[in-house]
Amino acid sequence: MRTQVGIIGAGPAGLLLSHLLRLRGIESVVLERRSRAYVEQRVRAGVLEQATVDTLVDAGVGERLLREGLPHGGIELRYGGAGHRIDFEELVPGRSITVYGQQEVVKDLIAARLADGGDIRFEVDDVAVHSLSAEPYVTFGGERLDCDVIAGCDGFHGVCRPSIPAGVLTEFERDYPFAWLGVLARVKPSAEELVYARSERGFALHSMRSPEVSRFYLQVAAGEDLDAWPDERIWAELRARLETVPDFTLATGQIIEKGVTSMRSYVAEPMQYGRLYLAGDAAHIVPPTGAKGLNLAVADVRVLTEALAGFYADGSTELLDGYSRDCLKRVWRAQHFSWWMTTLLHTFDSDDAYGRRLQTSYLDYVTSSAAAATTLAENYVGMA
Ligand code: FAD
Ligand code: PHB
Repeated sequence: MRTQVGIIGAGPAGLLLSHLLRLRGIESVVLERRSRAYVEQRVRAGVLEQATVDTLVDAGVGERLLREGLPHGGIELRYGGAGHRIDFEELVPGRSITVYGQQEVVKDLIAARLADGGDIRFEVDDVAVHSLSAEPYVTFGGERLDCDVIAGCDGFHGVCRPSIPAGVLTEFERDYPFAWLGVLARVKPSAEELVYARSERGFALHSMRSPEVSRFYLQVAAGEDLDAWPDERIWAELRARLETVPDFTLATGQIIEKGVTSMRSYVAEPMQYGRLYLAGDAAHIVPPTGAKGLNLAVADVRVLTEALAGFYADGSTELLDGYSRDCLKRVWRAQHFSWWMTTLLHTFDSDDAYGRRLQTSYLDYVTSSAAAATTLAENYVGMA
C-alpha cells in the first residue's frame, strides 16, 4: 500500500492534519491503535483558542462547534476569599476562547474524513516506523504502508518519537509533585465562566461542557489512586476549594466520568528527523493549567500542512526543513505560560511561607494591574 503522508495517531493532531491535507489535494492514511468509539469518548481538553476555532471553521469542520460551543469573554481567578475576573474582551479586544470538548472536535473530524472517503484505520496493532532518513514506511498488523513522509501524531506515549535514533533529540522536562483528578458531572455549571481557584487545600478548576454538563479538576497527589476518591469525597473537596467566596454555592449532580492525569512539562527538539515530523503531544506536553495542549497540536498541524503543501507544489523542502524552528517559538511560549499558571495556582509541599507570599503577591498583581492582567489574557487566548 502507498500514500503520500502516513499519519500515526487519530487524536486531534492526526485527524486535523489528514483533513487539511485533503483540502490541499494531498493523500494520507491515518493509523490508530484504539477503536473509533474510544477516541470519540476520551474526555480531555475543553478550551479552544480563537486561532483553533478559526482553523476548524475555515477548514469546514466548525459548523457544530459554532452552534454548540460556548464562547467565553473571560475567566475568574479565585483566591483569598474573593473572585477576580480577567476580562479578555477589554484586555485583548477581538480575541476570546470557546469551550467545546476535545472529543467533539475528534468526532467532527472523523465524520468529515469518512464523508470524504478518507482512510482511517482504527484498532491497528504493532505500528512501527522504518527507514526514516529516506523512503520511509510504516508496518502494522502484518501490512506495509509506503509513504513520502511520516507524521508522528501519536501522543506522548506513541512509537514515533522513540524511533528517532539516540543522540538526535534534546529533551527538556519538568515534573510536578501533583496530578489532576478530572471529573465530568451531569449538572448545570455553577458559574458562567471558568473558575481557577487557589486554596490552602490545593487547586480546583470549575469548567463546563454544556448548559447541562460541568467539568471539574482537583489538584491531588501524584500517582493518586482513583479508588480513594468516591463521589462524596470529590464533591466535598470541590465545595471546600470553590465555596470560598460569598454567594457561591456549588450545584452537585451525577458524576459520569473521572480520571487522574499526571502533570508534566516536556519538549523534544528538534521536532523532526529525516522524513519523520512530530506534531502535538508526540513532541511536547504542558500541564493543563494553561489549556494549551490541544491548541498547540492544532498550531503544529497548521505549520506542517503549509510545509507539505510547499513540498508537493514544487518539491521545495524549505518549509519542511524549517518546520521545527517554526513551531518551537510558539511551543516555548506555551511552555512558559503553562508552567507559570501551574506554579501560581497550585500548592507545593515544598512551599515555605515565603513561597506562598510570593504566589499571593503575583496573584494580587495580576488582578490589579492592567499590564499584568494583559500578560495573562493574551497568553490564555493565544499569541497571534
Ligand atoms: P493525542 O490526543 O494523545 O492523540 C494521539 C493518538 O495516537 C491517540 O488517539 C492514541 O491512541 C494514538 N496512538 C498512540 N500510540 C499509538 C501507536 N503506537 N499506534 C497508533 N496510534 C497510537 N489542551 C488544551 O488545549 N486545552 C485544555 O483545556 C486541555 N485540557 C486537558 C485536560 C486533560 C485532563 C488532559 C489529559 C489534557 C488536556 N489538554 C488540554 C491537552 C490535550 O488533550 C492534548 O494536548 C491533545 O490531546 C494533543 O493531541 P494529539 O493529537 O497531539 O495527541
Ligand atoms: C477543561 O474544560 O477540560 C479545561 C479547561 C481549562 C483548563 C484545562 C481543562 O485549563
